[in-house]
Amino acid sequence: MRGIILAGGSGTRLRPLTQVLSKQLLPVFDKPLIYYPLSVLMLAGVREILVISMPGHIDQYRSLLGDGERLGIELSYLEQDQPRGIADALVLGREFVGDEQVALILGDNIFHGHDLARVLQEQVVKLSGATLFGHSVADPQRYGVAVFDDSGRFVDIEEKPQRPRSTMAVTGMYLYDNEALDYAQQLVPSPRGELEITDLNRRFVTEGRAQLVDLGRGTMWLDAGTHESLLEAGNYVRVLQQRQGVQIACIEEVAYRVGTLDLAGLEAAIERVGVASDYGAYLRQVQDDHQRRATAHEGL
Ligand code: TTP
Repeated sequence: MRGIILAGGSGTRLRPLTQVLSKQLLPVFDKPLIYYPLSVLMLAGVREILVISMPGHIDQYRSLLGDGERLGIELSYLEQDQPRGIADALVLGREFVGDEQVALILGDNIFHGHDLARVLQEQVVKLSGATLFGHSVADPQRYGVAVFDDSGRFVDIEEKPQRPRSTMAVTGMYLYDNEALDYAQQLVPSPRGELEITDLNRRFVTEGRAQLVDLGRGTMWLDAGTHESLLEAGNYVRVLQQRQGVQIACIEEVAYRVGTLDLAGLEAAIERVGVASDYGAYLRQVQDDHQRRATAHEGL
């Protein structure tokens, strides 16, 4: 499966922060926003990932993340010259995806929770058609909202409904079979001039080939598209990290745990970041923990 992170958009709700900077490079507590969706794709087992962003911002992503080698994955980059909609990612990413399945994630979505990696990996293996991930929200009017029939079957998605028929929002992470690329190409721009991801998803729903996986209350889903939600996300990450002593979306740690990065790679990452930051010091701790365990194992 190939992965796409959509990290463009105009970020109008975050101005003036996004007047010059790309939204997905803004800090969520101690790391750039894009680290969070990137780590989710890595946890799902995706190793080849395309980052799509606005022309003026691509170089910054490239200098932040490189070609992926430092994480043991492959990263490539593509420009979206205009925010033509979320489904445009599948039009632009056609060549990159080739004949494979694709996982699309929005660059400003943060997922975190118990068992998330296992749930995602399981869904990747089972994928047939489209798999969407739902999460219950207090303000469904702001989202694409799932509609269920009397027997609880997922039958439709309503975009920003005034009277939502459920509280289950469709989150910004989507798994698709390869025909999604053709379907995306056949989409007609909406009145706001965008290729709507909800239109694409509804096609799969109509064909009876869409699954909706409820992420449940054990998982946190945040999008960082407004000043309030960006700060809220930062606070969430700060509280959890300080309380538990583990980091959310430390991409080198994730790479190490999913097995794409070895101890030498981890050491190189520590040298690159330096231990003056909490982030670098944490990586050192991950490495020390490993070595302690290895030594204890040898002593048995
Ligand atoms: P949105 O938050 O819907 O749009 P935006 O980022 O342009 O922000 P605003 O509404 O404040 O103007 O986008 C969701 C995610 O998808 C976000 O990470 C940006 C990305 N995106 C693109 O990369 N290209 C696009 O054409 C669109 C519509 C969004």
